[in-house]
Amino acid sequence: ETTWNLAVIGGDGIGPEVVAEGLKVLDAVTDTKVERTEYDLGAKRWHATGETLPDGVLEELRGHDAILLGAIGDPSVPSGVLERNLLLRLRFELDHYINLRPAKLFPGTSSPLDVEKVAPNGIDFVVVREGTEGPYTGNGGALRVGTPHELATEVSVNTRFGAERAVRDAFARAQARDRKKLTLVHKHNVLTHAGHLWRRTVEEVGAEFPDVQTDYTHVDAATIYLATDPGRFDVIVTDNLFGDIITDLAAAVTGGIGLAASGNINPDRTAPSMFEPVHGSAPDIAGKGIADPTAAILSVALLLAHLGQDAAAKRIEDAVAADLAERGATPRSTSEVGDAIASRLV
Ligand code: IPM
Ligand code: MN
Repeated sequence: ETTWNLAVIGGDGIGPEVVAEGLKVLDAVTDTKVERTEYDLGAKRWHATGETLPDGVLEELRGHDAILLGAIGDPSVPSGVLERNLLLRLRFELDHYINLRPAKLFPGTSSPLDVEKVAPNGIDFVVVREGTEGPYTGNGGALRVGTPHELATEVSVNTRFGAERAVRDAFARAQARDRKKLTLVHKHNVLTHAGHLWRRTVEEVGAEFPDVQTDYTHVDAATIYLATDPGRFDVIVTDNLFGDIITDLAAAVTGGIGLAASGNINPDRTAPSMFEPVHGSAPDIAGKGIADPTAAILSVALLLAHLGQDAAAKRIEDAVAADLAERGATPRSTSEVGDAIASRLV
């Protein structure tokens, strides 16, 4: 009998609250034994001990089948400390080179867009955001800080190896979908070095996927299309920073970040993948029991799909879709939403 070893990092703010609902739904959907280990990481630990991600904890995390993460970040910690030393360190150390962010407008969900007009055939695309390179590597520095001649650089690192593995993964995902369309989002008219590397990579890898149609959009134009014609996208592949920015917009047009799920995936399975809602720790509503756990619940569906449990993943997505279709105007608590979705699974 299989057992999954799941590491749980509730983290900061609303993280632990939404993760609890994700686990509730996981229990409801599967009979597989899930051995959970909770890891206390985030702002509280940093204040108490100065630690962000101790090496010993990182090594323990490596021994798990997957990681479920709530949210990291708190205004009481200087900006960048937890982000770089905890969240990004996990993504880099565990080689999460695919940051998978689906954007789907579920029926009954309200979008700030006039969907009938701008997306009559619906919105359903997925962003394959490269997860280990770009301007996120910390490659850069500052000189003459605090002087009128201060200089700062943040170098975007792009390797053929890194772009190619992201692009190949994105082509495979596009090939498995109905529309089989891959859009590269970049800015090759200005970022000529990296832009051409990405373009050539798409062209060359594309030869292996003749049934996938490829397309290119500059990132600035992509933000226009996300607001005026989001239905045009099927699979988007893009670098780490562009992917960060456009997935917030993608979330906004598909019902808000309360619904946006993500997977930090290591497709080679040399380390566990990590699943987390796209939203942050929302300290303003933490502890009130009012955060929407749907994004965390959909992240559990991505986790199950990664573990090969496509049917269970689909059942969660269907339960969420049914719940969203019936969501009325009456606000529900975090646990009420979790209960409602879990009750559709038994
Ligand atoms: C996200 C977040 C992170 C990112 C931050 C918190 C480091 O915005 O997951 O999208 O930029 O990747
Ligand atoms: Mn972000």
